[in-house]
Amino acid sequence: MAFTIAIDGPAAAGKGTISRAVAAHYGVAHLDTGLLYRAVGRRTLDGVAPLEAARALVAEDLKADDLRSPEVAQAASKVAVLPEVREALVDFQRAFAARAGGAVLDGRDIGTVICPEAEAKLFVTASAEVRAQRRLDELRAKGVETDFDSVLADVRERDARDMDRADAPLRPAPDAVTIDTSALDIEAAIAAAIAAIDGRRPSSGAG
Ligand code: CDP
Repeated sequence: MAFTIAIDGPAAAGKGTISRAVAAHYGVAHLDTGLLYRAVGRRTLDGVAPLEAARALVAEDLKADDLRSPEVAQAASKVAVLPEVREALVDFQRAFAARAGGAVLDGRDIGTVICPEAEAKLFVTASAEVRAQRRLDELRAKGVETDFDSVLADVRERDARDMDRADAPLRPAPDAVTIDTSALDIEAAIAAAIAAIDGRRPSSGAG
């Protein structure tokens, strides 16, 4: 049976870590949909038009090693406001969600637009300062030279663009369980996610 888990939330809230752990726990596939927007944004930095880049996207593009840079993140959130770009990426995401055996998709609009029928929906968030510190640690670990204030500014700018856009704005689905990871370590955040998802899984023998 296809059991779809939708995990949404703002930048650097812990979605990626939680999504990978949840996918491993249930033995299902995982798609980080931010990579689709990052790959499109990456091409626009080379001068390719956003819609052309979105239509030409292939799975291989998600493996490029510079997709995690702050410049690409900004480019991604700029192409992500364009309805025709979002539309071009819908089929790929829905096909992934429909995999036999189930799937975890993480992003901004999975529970609201891409998979409104998902069996389990989480909205993972944290304060902007906590998210900026986590992203700073990640970037520094990769050798990227940056500082707290510029990472915080980047996070806030993308939050505003993601929440204020007309098409598929970032917001929790009405039936999403919100997990605020500001004061949670990784293990506690993963445990909270699994507890919330277990509550939505068909229990054997019941009913
Ligand atoms: O890793 P981080 O949370 O910083 O960002 P991401 O999930 O890789 O997403 C990068 C950008 O893509 C976001 O700022 C959004 O503008 C956009 N995005 C989106 O619009 N819809 C999605 N489902 C996923 C990402």
